[in-house]
Amino acid sequence: MPATVLIVDDESSIIFSLSEAMQDAGYRTLTATRGEEAIREVKESSPDIVLLDMKLPDIDGLKVLKQIKSHVPELPVIMMSAYVDVATAVQATKIGAVNFIEKPLNIEKIKIDVNNTLKNVDVLKQLDSVKTELEQFKEIERLRQKVQNPLDAILGNSKAIRDMKKTIKKIVDSSATTVLVQGESGSGKELVARAIHYASNRKDKPFIDVNCTSIPDELLESELFGHEKGAFTDAKKEKKGLFELANGGTLFLDEIGDMKFSMQAKLLRVLQEKFFKRVGGTKNINIDVRIVAATNKDLLKEVEKGNYREDLYYRLNVIPIYCPPLRQRGDDVILLTKSFVEHFNKHFGKNVTNIDSRAEELLLSYSWPGNVRELRNIIERAILLESEDVLLPEHLSITPSASSVAARLDDDEEEITLSDADFDGEPEFNESWTLDDMENWFIQKVLVKYNWNKNLVAKKLGINRTTLYTKIKKYNLER
Ligand SMILES: Nc1ncnc2c1ncn2[C@@H]1O[C@H](COP(=O)(O)OP(=O)(O)OP(=O)(O)O)[C@@H](O)[C@H]1O
Ligand SMILES: [Mg+2]
Repeated sequence: MPATVLIVDDESSIIFSLSEAMQDAGYRTLTATRGEEAIREVKESSPDIVLLDMKLPDIDGLKVLKQIKSHVPELPVIMMSAYVDVATAVQATKIGAVNFIEKPLNIEKIKIDVNNTLKNVDVLKQLDSVKTELEQFKEIERLRQKVQNPLDAILGNSKAIRDMKKTIKKIVDSSATTVLVQGESGSGKELVARAIHYASNRKDKPFIDVNCTSIPDELLESELFGHEKGAFTDAKKEKKGLFELANGGTLFLDEIGDMKFSMQAKLLRVLQEKFFKRVGGTKNINIDVRIVAATNKDLLKEVEKGNYREDLYYRLNVIPIYCPPLRQRGDDVILLTKSFVEHFNKHFGKNVTNIDSRAEELLLSYSWPGNVRELRNIIERAILLESEDVLLPEHLSITPSASSVAARLDDDEEEITLSDADFDGEPEFNESWTLDDMENWFIQKVLVKYNWNKNLVAKKLGINRTTLYTKIKKYNLER
């Protein structure tokens, strides 16, 4: 039985987007636009969690929280507010709010918060029923195993993804190292950043994500470092910056390639010194924050062009992680497709059980300029609109534009020449080789090069798939 989320907000656009996000995450939703209504829903419909706005037209959010807690003390409530001042946050926590979320809302983060909160409640409920300490200990271990490994959220079996996950595993516990995630748009940089946080021993501390392009340049400094009261005209109260709020956890600096030069210098200083001052402040504030930065720009190129500080680049690039573009991930496209089909089947109540082989071919041959995000959107649309149980090529709104076909061809041209690196450690050409030896050797090379994506390999070799399969069998080739 899915959990029920009660969403309380007087703004219909927020009710709409939160309801959609919660349903997308598999929950049932109830909504209320007034405090009275919220309290009634809590009594009558027993939701499992409440998302409660601080400012409601009839009763103050904190009062609503108090009443909810007096009726159902164990019900988790997450407060939402456009401005979180420390005093209110403390008060709300005392009354029993489990979390405080600042508006504008970050929907993905809320999904994770709701999921984590419900999981915690579940764990506590189950723990309540366990009697002895030893039993409790065993139970905790079992539940810990049950909670999903955050790295599992990154799907893919291609070598590129396996290597990437290996790097992530190595660094999660070297807790303070800065990570720079690079990759094309939609290739999974944010997913990687979250995985790093939730797989690390910082996971119970905040993960704060800042999009450096969505905050106006003149506000970025005070957002990041906070400000003292009176530091500038609008600074009516002191405010903690995101660095302080993320203390102990992870600060995800997204679109770092677009940060202005003057701000780059300030960021560099914090990374070097590990402390900073609030805007208008004199006190040094020490922080323990892991920085994960991401960009879809080629930062080194930006450095060469003079758009980016070289010293900052090297500070950020302690551990580089590269999210490979989808078109270089071979059969991962199909694996991801299957996972998205399953997801949207559940979401839209559909039952698409098969993927037609021509649809597979289309998916494998497309260049995916928008990467995994584009694939996800295309599958969402296909499942929503279609009622058949098999996914056909005509369900996929892939209309390879001239440019993307060209990109794909360019890519192919680039890839078809095996580079010197591909021949490292290879025996020199040997006159005793037969033609079969040569063929065996060459097919193996190309299979490895294209990650055993048989469609692509067959295309490269200029033979059809059946012939390729026959040859793989003949030479006993294995992955
Ligand atoms: N390996 C993967 N497995 C499963 N889902 C993935 C994978 N990579 C990306 N996704 C999904 O694709 C979508 C886009 O990923 P994400 O937002 O992390 O990309 P991004 O690189 O940050 O993009 P942008 O540069 O546009 O910000 C998300 O819905 C994400 O969950
Ligand atoms: Mg992103």
